Amino acid sequence: MKPEPVLLARVGRERSQAIDTYLADGGYEALKKVLTGGWTPEAVTEEVKKSGLRGRGGAGFPTGVKWGFVPKDTKGKPVYLLCNADESEPGTFKDRLLMEEDPHQMLEGQIISSYALKCRNSYIYVRGEFFHGARVLQRAIDEAYEKGFLGENVLGSGFSHDITVHRGAGAYICGEETGLIESLEGKRGQPRVKPPFPAVVGVFGAPTIVNNVETLCCVTHVIHRGADWFAKIGRNEKNTGPKVVIPGGASAAMLTAEEIEDCPLDFEGLAAKKSMLGSAAIIVMNEETCIVDAARNLAKFFSHESCGQCTPCREGTPWLHRVLDRIEEGEGRPEDIDLLEKIANQMGNGITLCVFADAAIAPVLSSIGKFRDEYRYHVEHKRCLVGPWTSERPRPAAARGGGNVSPGSLPPSPANGRHR
Ligand SMILES: Cc1cc2nc3c(=O)[nH]c(=O)nc-3n(C[C@H](O)[C@H](O)[C@H](O)COP(=O)(O)O)c2cc1C
Ligand code: SF4
Repeated sequence: MKPEPVLLARVGRERSQAIDTYLADGGYEALKKVLTGGWTPEAVTEEVKKSGLRGRGGAGFPTGVKWGFVPKDTKGKPVYLLCNADESEPGTFKDRLLMEEDPHQMLEGQIISSYALKCRNSYIYVRGEFFHGARVLQRAIDEAYEKGFLGENVLGSGFSHDITVHRGAGAYICGEETGLIESLEGKRGQPRVKPPFPAVVGVFGAPTIVNNVETLCCVTHVIHRGADWFAKIGRNEKNTGPKVVIPGGASAAMLTAEEIEDCPLDFEGLAAKKSMLGSAAIIVMNEETCIVDAARNLAKFFSHESCGQCTPCREGTPWLHRVLDRIEEGEGRPEDIDLLEKIANQMGNGITLCVFADAAIAPVLSSIGKFRDEYRYHVEHKRCLVGPWTSERPRPAAARGGGNVSPGSLPPSPANGRHR
């Protein structure tokens, strides 16, 4: 049976961003249900817990459980909800699509979540480069105020709420929740030492929940159609609800075609393959992609984006990039492959303030583990096994059945069958 579109159901609809089309499609019914139907904030949290919804920002932490970490007695401090719309993962564009095409779906989820958290003011932290997304969101927020879904005494319920859009300056690490909090406070976007966790001490020293765009969109549907419905449309009890999978993503171990073939694209399925669902985005590389170049490209990104607080990450990410660069440029030394592994192994396993360093080493270690022959070929032949093909660098013979590299000069076919 073809799955029913949920989060992307309105993408492509004419004027999908406008509040009148959203209302015509049943929009803000979930908010009305909560605010005029006698739901308490605790009842909303319970419904979200029951739905099994897990955060869609990467870590997959259960959303209702996280909300429950906000202390009952906040000692007079306000509670904040921050929508993480920083989406900077290389190749990941799911949140941008949701924000730009259906902003009210997200806003409705954010207002409902704020009600559950007894939060008066919430923020949307948008990636700096998303000019269009920020404009679409602001227009949608203005419309929501006009219709009485935001502001004082929403729908006559006594609940008041304001949402502010905050544009980042364009740093990947500001997607990490405590880096985001620092940045929102006007400081450098550098992750904080945890504990204390944001639910206890977050933005402006107050209890704070950070949730991803897609997570908040899911909240709208949990309330609108019920936790049981949401739980039922997932793959199993640990992977409930819809999940947007759009090509992209980088901070996880690479998988070969054979590994992905029988792998369920959910939290457990990918963990079983020693990778992770992360942003649930997929970069597909065929056999004409140079794996060393792909790893070098990602290493360059991570080297540029390290915030620099932790020595292994600050020093290790540019090292990885430099060594990968020289291998790709034909200047690699036989010991360089082991050197890459050695550097990477000294950066990971939770020795840094945040998991950025673990993300940075995943593509390097997994590509060496699975495509070591290709690395060796670069070092031995001082060139790439695959394209880009130019007159100076023609297509190799054995790999493609033509060209001017003698088959004897190619490495034996790796067991994973990447090279034909
Ligand atoms: C380096 C790094 C970058 C991250 N970038 C994002 C991001 O762009 N968007 C996002 O929602 N979460 C990102 N996260 C995860 C957040 O720290 C946090 O777990 C998430 O926003 C929580 O929302 P959720 O519970 O709804 O998934 C990142 C984490 C790390 C370590
Ligand atoms: S691991 Fe890297 S990005 Fe994370 S806090 Fe340390 S230096 Fe910054």
